[in-house]
Amino acid sequence: MAEPKRKDAIAGDVIHEYDGIEEADNELPTWWIVIFIGSVVFGAGYWLAFHEFHVQPSAVEALAAKEAERARRAGDVSDADLLSASKDAAAVAAGKTVFMTNCVACHGDKAEGRIGPNLTDGFWIHGGAPKAIFETVKAGVPAKGMPTWGPVLGAITVKQVVAYLLTLRNTNVSGKEPQGDAYTVP
Ligand code: HEC
Repeated sequence: MAEPKRKDAIAGDVIHEYDGIEEADNELPTWWIVIFIGSVVFGAGYWLAFHEFHVQPSAVEALAAKEAERARRAGDVSDADLLSASKDAAAVAAGKTVFMTNCVACHGDKAEGRIGPNLTDGFWIHGGAPKAIFETVKAGVPAKGMPTWGPVLGAITVKQVVAYLLTLRNTNVSGKEPQGDAYTVP
């Protein structure tokens, strides 16, 4: 037989009673409701902000951005960087290997020029300053048959091969006739 409803010791009405265990319909404490609703609102806001509107890059995005920045920096060389690399025996030796592997077919094994220009004379189609040579090798001149080496070799290797070329600049190996404008090393 169901007992008549009575007030629970804490607050609300007892709604069930089985085997002496009473279930009361107590009101939820205010602090609990505040935390509950607060969590739901925070969760919705967090989802919108980070997953829908990307107010801040995620860890994966931040890492990708950092990598891209590092790759960009590696391509950010100055005349001074390249000149000092041209005095670094290890960089020059590495650059020579790169040249022998990738460049001799068109520029000759002494860089005296074949299909491509003589790289040992004082004349340059695209500029003879270290940075200009670096940019020419990196970007290539696809329309004239000079491949784009930046994506193939990477900036560090392009820097090495340019270091090697700088040791050949103005050594005037006889080969292909001069092309372009005279460049005087400052
Ligand atoms: C498929 C042939 C080919 C290969 C391989 C090649 N080049 Fe070239 N290169 C050329 C041609 C052709 C030009 C001339 C472009 C022009 O007329 O604007 C050139 C131009 C250049 C110039 C600019 C010369 C100037 O007078 O301004 C540099 C520097 C150069 N090459 C370096 C390299 C290096 C370093 C490599 C190897 C990593 C290489 N090249 C591989 C064909 C080639």
